[in-house]
Amino acid sequence: MVRTLPSIVTADAAGIAAAARALRDGRLVALPTETVYGLAADATDDRAVARIYAVKGRPTFNPLISHVPDAEGAFALVRENAWAKQLATAFWPGPLTMVLARRDNCPVSLLATAGLDTLAVRVPAHPVARAVLAAAGRPIAAPSANRSGKVSPTTARHVEDDLGGDVDLILDGGACTVGVESTIVDLSGARPRLLRPGGIGGEDLERLVGPLEHATHCAVVAPGMMASHYAPTLPLRLDATASRGREALLAFGADVPGGFTLVLNLSSRGDLEEAAANLFGYLRQLDRTSVDGIAVAPIPRHGLGLAINDRLRRAAAPRQ
Ligand code: TXA
Ligand code: MG
Repeated sequence: MVRTLPSIVTADAAGIAAAARALRDGRLVALPTETVYGLAADATDDRAVARIYAVKGRPTFNPLISHVPDAEGAFALVRENAWAKQLATAFWPGPLTMVLARRDNCPVSLLATAGLDTLAVRVPAHPVARAVLAAAGRPIAAPSANRSGKVSPTTARHVEDDLGGDVDLILDGGACTVGVESTIVDLSGARPRLLRPGGIGGEDLERLVGPLEHATHCAVVAPGMMASHYAPTLPLRLDATASRGREALLAFGADVPGGFTLVLNLSSRGDLEEAAANLFGYLRQLDRTSVDGIAVAPIPRHGLGLAINDRLRRAAAPRQ
């Protein structure tokens, strides 16, 4: 089968206008956010949303995040409460997604929310994403622009490698600076609940809304919560402190054990932000080498380290 490659378009004014036009026409556009690249479509268009699920190979019971330019746009779709207002003031625009009750007049496709009466909303900080959202003038559904269960893309090239001709336009805004997906907090219940650790540390949320409940695996059906997710092809071994056979090492910090076939260091100065930004790109690079497996050094379990460890644990889990 011959597939035409999508055009990778530079995210200048013309590129942003073309992306917004394509979205309004019901097409699929890959665009940069500060976390990862998103596979974007008009969230109010059932057919466009259905194409996201088809292209990703994503189960339709897993709902999508709606992206909007500002808090006002978000709270037009969902019912805000005191926690939501506080968190919006502190962290939007930024890598935080809130799950709240859908308003009765919410125009977002029911397919995008998998029939739930809640909706996940996010106001991204990336200037290109913000410009596209403003120009599109409607909520934009966007999961990470990878096939379901695989490593998320942090460059336009990653998107092209994964989705090739299945996306109509790829908007190139450079490498994502945060590198792990947004933190997801469910504010629709009696207490705020952390559904996915991400770009904003849970500790930072807790300073504003008090202790967070933690979602258990069975409580919510969400792909980011499935045991196996973000998975490279090679087997992954965590908390590795010495080599075992022909392995590549994903290192962290100045202290790098010897004996590995190949080493990529997430951050030689032990900086968690730098490590998060490098995580998915380095996993992809190592996944293309001819070793028997990828070993990962221990990563501190605080701040962004929680999101990094969460992704690594799922990447290492037995494949479904
Ligand atoms: O950083 C991000 O959040 C990126 C960029 C592109 O914005 N997007 C992203 O989307 O990571 P995705 O689809 O890969 O992950 C969204 C997560 C999924 O685990 C989904 O199940 C969950 O959000 N989700 C969406 N709506 C939900 C809802 N109403 N209730 C609970 N979980 C929800
Ligand atoms: Mg994803």
